[in-house]
Amino acid sequence: MINIVILAAGKGTRMRSKLPKVLHSIAGRPMLGHVLQTISGFKATNLCVVVGHGADQVKGFAQTSNIAFTTQNPQLGTGHALQLAAPHLNEAYHTLVLYGDVPLIQLDTLQRLIQVAAQSVGVLTVNMNDPTGYGRIKRNLEGSIQAIVEHKDASETDLLINEVNTGILIAPTTPLKKWLSQLSNDNVQKEYLLTDIIGFAVEDGFTINSTQPTNDWETFGVNDKTQLAALEAVYRAESSSRLLEQGVTLIDPLRTDLRGSITCGMDVCIDVGCIFEGDVHIHDDVTIGPYCVIKNTTIGAGTHIAAFTHIDGAVIGSSAKIGPFARLRPETQLANQTHIGNFVEIKKSTIATASKVNHLSYIGDAIVGQNVNIGAGVITCNYDGVNKHTTTIGDNAFIGSDTQLVAPVTVGANSTIGAGSTITKNTPNDTLTLSRGKQISLASWQRPSKK
Ligand code: UD1
Ligand code: CA
Repeated sequence: MINIVILAAGKGTRMRSKLPKVLHSIAGRPMLGHVLQTISGFKATNLCVVVGHGADQVKGFAQTSNIAFTTQNPQLGTGHALQLAAPHLNEAYHTLVLYGDVPLIQLDTLQRLIQVAAQSVGVLTVNMNDPTGYGRIKRNLEGSIQAIVEHKDASETDLLINEVNTGILIAPTTPLKKWLSQLSNDNVQKEYLLTDIIGFAVEDGFTINSTQPTNDWETFGVNDKTQLAALEAVYRAESSSRLLEQGVTLIDPLRTDLRGSITCGMDVCIDVGCIFEGDVHIHDDVTIGPYCVIKNTTIGAGTHIAAFTHIDGAVIGSSAKIGPFARLRPETQLANQTHIGNFVEIKKSTIATASKVNHLSYIGDAIVGQNVNIGAGVITCNYDGVNKHTTTIGDNAFIGSDTQLVAPVTVGANSTIGAGSTITKNTPNDTLTLSRGKQISLASWQRPSKK
């Protein structure tokens, strides 16, 4: 068990946004959500989030999980934030301090920090070429940490120190509560500085241990949109490199956005500009053309998804051809060898093996059999303004272009529908059905002419 406090009270003025800072997203997930996701890797946590600016919105986002909130208003410093969280902390365990605006911290780094802290205090530090603005780690001649000095309180010699405080630290909770009660705001910022507990811990005979993050970007914080974009780029590069390691071909890893989780078989090739969200499963030999958005979808082996295709919540069989410019909406199930062409929208429909919908159609709430050919511009009229109705099309049916199928309606197996028909009644098997006005030609008609 471990206590974790996430500081998330800050306003984020430099974000220039109505949204509280920690709710700004990286890879489609709020920064606070990244931290919560990472710490869900711990077996048992007693979690307290310190909220302030936009408290209700931040609570609303995190409420689903088992979290205690404490509101810090006004914000009198990181030490003050911890003072307010203190009543929620279980003294039998250590307390780990994290930041809602440092979203990419990784579990293995935190576990290492917990290990080095052992029965004592642990601080996560980094060495920076330009440490301006950061708290400096002061060590004695033996190399033991003695204190953290904030940049604004630092002496000329302190300012030469390159090792800085990332802000992430861990301490045993009983003495931590005592040190928090000793804090004063007698410093340049007139804030209660959490970092001052390090000096108190040393006075009480505690050793201050430290470790460094596996990757430098893990402790990057976000104060403005430039830093937000920089971390988005880190996330993109990291997730793309994991796909490359698995053997996926990415035409450009820096133009591939993996925002959820993805599994890929062998010899998968993904062209530029694709975005993957939610849970995506891609089987062997799938190729995905440029600029596709694919969410919560399974794609069978050997299927080709052509450029600019948008897929959400579909299951696609093997050796299918989808797109370019296709849109598959939730609950679409396409069997093997199906073809879905350009400007076709499919919603909540099942399409069986080797059936084709190649051009400009809307298929919604439909059950389509095998080897069906749906011509250009066919529309299932599934909605009467109140209810959705089902269209059923039997195997080997041929639906002529520009047909409207007014649901509920069933088209029989092997039946052919003449182009331009409006089908309102069920059609028999093995029969041609058509409904259209008789064609006439008027020889006497004269085209108007300009004077
Ligand atoms: C803090 C550390 C500094 C470290 C730096 C790393 C302290 C005193 N200093 O400085 O040693 O090098 O982080 O980035 O801790 N927050 C609250 N309530 C408050 C004040 C802050 O919730 O009253 C939150 C902020 O929203 C932010 C985080 O705590 O997420 C850090 O606060 P910030 O003022 O940015 O700390 P720094 O001055 O940068
Ligand atoms: Ca500050």
